[in-house]
Amino acid sequence: MTRTLWDSSVGKKTVMAVSGLIMLLYLVVHMIGNLKIFFGSGEFNHYAHWLRTMGEPFLHYEWALWIVRVVLVAAVVLHATSAYQLSRRDIRARPASYVHRKPRAGYATRTMRWGGIILALFIVWHILDLTTGTVHPGGFQSGHPYQNVIDTFSTWYGNTIYIVAMLALGLHVQHGFWSAAQTLGAGNAARDRALKALANALALVLTLGFISVPVAVMTGVVS
Ligand code: HEM
Repeated sequence: MTRTLWDSSVGKKTVMAVSGLIMLLYLVVHMIGNLKIFFGSGEFNHYAHWLRTMGEPFLHYEWALWIVRVVLVAAVVLHATSAYQLSRRDIRARPASYVHRKPRAGYATRTMRWGGIILALFIVWHILDLTTGTVHPGGFQSGHPYQNVIDTFSTWYGNTIYIVAMLALGLHVQHGFWSAAQTLGAGNAARDRALKALANALALVLTLGFISVPVAVMTGVVS
């Protein structure tokens, strides 16, 4: 039963929708957390420390954070695997090229595929930049994310990578949220309109909220 569901296109789309919504929830929380940078280094670093101590004393140091990490990794893997398998299926199902070229996937599909690839690459870069410090410009200081964020957004390539990724994120969330709602069967005309508006609002708020951080550093509002 589970096997048949996973093998079906509807099953894969459901997996994409649910894993996508889990990541979306994380993004809303992460974006709100990032805005604490506007309240200064003390508050921002304190918040980052709290991410590691949340759940104490019931949970040990960093356990809650590791639970979030495991859930996110599972969501990313399931989302990417089903996206890849659905797109292979889609390509195989297309008629062989009988004129000059194969019919191309539509605009939304292509945007989602490229957006997904850009975001996957961005997440790897972002973790190496601000979590492990491997590609971080300047001396990465564990436990001092405020200074690390300032260092990243003091380079032209840091700003470029993050801003391009956030624009890709906005487009991905806008279309992805809408598709997820369709898959999970939200549809009637009035509700569809409301969901489309919600998809647009979420995409806009996330993009502007995330981009406000590099922009604030570039303009010296945060330093
Ligand atoms: C301008 C935008 C962003 C900024 C300034 C930012 C900032 C940060 C910072 C400072 C950390 C390290 C937190 C700490 O160690 O205490 C972090 C971790 C992380 N961020 Fe972001 N972030 C941004 C956008 C994003 C986006 C768009 C995603 C996902 C698509 C994302 C996913 C993550 C993940 C998965 C972690 C690792 C959490 C962990 O395992 O410790 N971030 N971010």
